[in-house]
Amino acid sequence: GCPIRFEGAASRAVFSRGPADAPVVVIGEAPGAEEDRAGRPFVGKAGRMLDRMLEAIGLNDRVFITNTVFWRPPGNRTPTPEEQLVCKPFVEQAIRLVRPTMLLLVGAPATRCLLDQTEGINRLHGRWFEWRTADGDLEVPALPTFHPAFLMRTPSAKAMAWADLKLFAERLNRPSRP
Ligand code: URA
Repeated sequence: GCPIRFEGAASRAVFSRGPADAPVVVIGEAPGAEEDRAGRPFVGKAGRMLDRMLEAIGLNDRVFITNTVFWRPPGNRTPTPEEQLVCKPFVEQAIRLVRPTMLLLVGAPATRCLLDQTEGINRLHGRWFEWRTADGDLEVPALPTFHPAFLMRTPSAKAMAWADLKLFAERLNRPSRP
């Protein structure tokens, strides 16, 4: 039912990559052109940057990666809240099935979709939130940070992203998690 699927720019669904028993779920915004071609999220330039960020905190292959919508929006525009709402039950079900220890939300659209937070990412990054299923069965600490595509355009934000990642890794590796 996601309208982007019928907007002509998208060729295929892009759902996830990474192991289904990963301790961390990363949620981005939407697939881009390379993801659309490959059928896998975060495989283009931003994806390589994301991989380097995750490697820097020792998470290499221990992440399940998905997006707020599963089709490439035409012209790579930001998905609307309505489009995100259509895909949201599938994102939530993925989190339920993976049962990660923590969620990393990259960028404002992912933070808005998962946490219903409408402030800008400059105010939200590096702050802990609790993501909950509607039935309260699962609670997962969630940390918003900057989107790798934004970091490539704005290198001055990299220090703040690095501080967020260190915070994330510190909690993940803490013996008495969460
Ligand atoms: N940007 C995203 O948010 N997701 C992708 O899969 C690729 C680029």
